[in-house]
Amino acid sequence: MSCDCGIIGLGVMGSNLALNIAEKGFRVAVFNRTYAKTVEFLGTTPLAGRSLFGFEHYQDFVAALTKPRKVLILVQAGAATDATIKSLREHLEPNDIIVDTGNAHFKDQGRRAAELEAGGLRFLGMGISGGEEGARKGPAFFPGGTLSVWEEVRPIVEAAAAKADDGRPCVTMNGKGGAGSCVKMFHNAGEYAILQIWAEVFDVMRHGGMSNNDIAAELQAWKDKGFLTSYMLDITIEVAKAKLHSGNPLSDVVRDKIGSKGTGLWSAQEALEVGVPAPSLNAAVIARQMSMFKDERTQNASCGIRVLPPVSWSFIGADKEAFLCKLYHATKLAIIASYAQMFQCLRELDKVYGFGIHLPSTIATFRAGCILKGFLLTPMTKAFEANPNLSNLLCAFPEALRDGLQAYRDMLSEVTAKTSVSLPVLSASLVYINTMFSSVLMSAQVVSLQRDVFGRHGFERLDEPGSHSHQWPELQ
Ligand code: 6PG
Repeated sequence: MSCDCGIIGLGVMGSNLALNIAEKGFRVAVFNRTYAKTVEFLGTTPLAGRSLFGFEHYQDFVAALTKPRKVLILVQAGAATDATIKSLREHLEPNDIIVDTGNAHFKDQGRRAAELEAGGLRFLGMGISGGEEGARKGPAFFPGGTLSVWEEVRPIVEAAAAKADDGRPCVTMNGKGGAGSCVKMFHNAGEYAILQIWAEVFDVMRHGGMSNNDIAAELQAWKDKGFLTSYMLDITIEVAKAKLHSGNPLSDVVRDKIGSKGTGLWSAQEALEVGVPAPSLNAAVIARQMSMFKDERTQNASCGIRVLPPVSWSFIGADKEAFLCKLYHATKLAIIASYAQMFQCLRELDKVYGFGIHLPSTIATFRAGCILKGFLLTPMTKAFEANPNLSNLLCAFPEALRDGLQAYRDMLSEVTAKTSVSLPVLSASLVYINTMFSSVLMSAQVVSLQRDVFGRHGFERLDEPGSHSHQWPELQ
């Protein structure tokens, strides 16, 4: 039967990717833990028996693959992936290739590669982004590992990948070891932050007295300006438009707890570990964590202390246009700041783990197919292509900073003064900009001295070299 590749796992992503690859002219063997699902899937497509072939047992699935065999795993990340690899490897031969496409921690991919290579097999960790539609029409892929392994799967993956406006496929070999999964982890951290920014914008607008229909219309107007055109804006517009049968907004009845599967948290942990400031990414994770404390929030809200300020709804008032303009500027800058943090994290992790990531090539693969796709990815790619040593992405957007910073500050202070709406990522992003564009931080000067008072930790001075200490009075 000689299939070009195999896919294990016929969930939403696996079945759609199998169809995508088969449509590109490859012969694909498919396998699912429960054979009924394989039968069901093949029953839905005319490609069954022509370029898609289903198997009930691993040995038949593996026997159908051309050597060296290339098997893509699309099962749940974590334990399910390890269990699948364990079963599969018994049937593979030296040189065969396993590609894990899950949202894995990059450190797990390094471990898997080492274990499989010790047994003569080859491994690639390759995140996928784009959800169901992406998998079907062309997702972005984030491979990492050994270059020669990538070269063997490259024709299939490039054919299946989304294509950016310049025709380049949204995939590049990101680097060694877990580089691909690291890029996917931080793609998701950016996803968490920017989804949260759009959600905060929605929250402000509703508290400002706008209906969901007004919000959808306003966001559509923002989209039409071009700069913020993106998939995440599109889905937020859809969320604003979604209605119950009664005609009431769907968003009003949705339980306010945000689930997550780990990539955002791992990214925040890794950023902290290597010491890259990423307040927007961290705040998005914490926002999700606070949402999960529904019971405590409900109890606190009924304990009789009035936390909501008297003016909460319809605070925008007569200055609606002016306020929305400020909010627009704030959104632009918060999104750029979030990307800036994401890229700084990738740069630093690249240094620490020696991945060999070429940032402009990686960013170019975010331009289509993935959840981050949107207009901004093109100028961001160009900025790093023009200057790979750019100190911070924000420096490539001087106009956005010049035209928007004061508006951003005004918007935040107005919302904070008049409502109880909390804006974790919009606030954290302004903190990031203020801090990362300050050549001297007074609070850092004070904390350095505080440490010297009680711990005699010493401090450096701006005007003299060396380590200094001060004579402090006894305070305890
Ligand atoms: C993508 C997404 C996807 C991710 C979900 C869920 O790029 O297609 O990042 O891979 O699994 O967005 O992530 P959370 O459950 O952690 O929100």
